[in-house]
Amino acid sequence: MIVTDIDIAKQALNADDIIAIPTETVYGLAGNAFSNTAIEKISRLKQRPFFNPLIVHIKSAAAIDEVATDIPDIAQKLGNTFWPGPLTLILKKKSNVPDLVTAGKPTVAVRVPNHPITLNLLQQLDFPLAAPSANPFGSISPTSAAHVHNYFKTDLTVILDGGNCENGVESTIVGFEDNQAVLYRHGAISLEEIEATIGKVIIKSKNDVDPTAPGMLTRHYAPSTDMYLTTNVAEYIQLFAGKKIGLLLFKESIDNTFVTHQEILSKTGNMKEATKELYAALHRLDQLKLDVIIAEKFPDNNLGKTINDRLQRGVEK
Ligand code: TXA
Ligand code: MG
Repeated sequence: MIVTDIDIAKQALNADDIIAIPTETVYGLAGNAFSNTAIEKISRLKQRPFFNPLIVHIKSAAAIDEVATDIPDIAQKLGNTFWPGPLTLILKKKSNVPDLVTAGKPTVAVRVPNHPITLNLLQQLDFPLAAPSANPFGSISPTSAAHVHNYFKTDLTVILDGGNCENGVESTIVGFEDNQAVLYRHGAISLEEIEATIGKVIIKSKNDVDPTAPGMLTRHYAPSTDMYLTTNVAEYIQLFAGKKIGLLLFKESIDNTFVTHQEILSKTGNMKEATKELYAALHRLDQLKLDVIIAEKFPDNNLGKTINDRLQRGVEK
């Protein structure tokens, strides 16, 4: 059921049920972060492997002490600058945060989402909300209530509708190792913006860590249609001539008879708009039963890095 009444959401959450919530990044599948019953329901519905921990959503930067401790100064500074907003910090967890939420890790992922409905909801609850993105494990994240409904149908009884997500891509994840900030996931806040606040950040690439480490699974954010990522879209169209081809392009359309459908993410070349439209365009392309999706590689700076990261993970086999 798609609803806008937060009393319905509140009732479900207070009864250890799970619901979908809107955030400024993507929709989340949320439950009481202190309830093992709720967390188990999230993992079951999402078909998420046990080793992948969840983000805990808190109502304000001041509420950080409810779930984390020993907060580094640079973390505090990032929280003060970007919260509420699409930044997740990995901090030392307090013992009241269940191991099911953190997958047994000594750290907890925390953020204050910047969406009026969800902030209002959080302020009326006695607990924070653990929430992964509201999609089956590995598939494209939802940026509208309809996307969530298409994934879970009647298995999810409450979807709180907050419209289309403003940022359209997941939060940026930053952790701390030896008092140094480390980027674990590119996201809605660019690396450049983070570095403008706290200076140089270490970037963890997939090759530096165990592939089962959080956020590092390669095939992720993937459409079910075969997808290719290239700087030379025209060449790939020739390669697949005769097939049903869909294109995902930054700003300019391509005139070619072999192309069945094309999605232009921002006609004015605005990277923020392109990011907002990315998943909705992928969802549309994926529903057309195409033989292949050819995606154009973005300029590798600012939010272009985040878009390229998601597209790259979407093409991994
Ligand atoms: O924008 C977002 O972050 C959305 C909205 C709903 O808030 N949530 C989201 O959650 O993207 P999810 O579960 O799809 O991705 C969370 C990522 C995962 O890659 C997980 O491994 C990582 O955060 N993570 C969670 N706890 C962690 C921890 N203690 N250490 C390192 N990574 C962690
Ligand atoms: Mg996810």
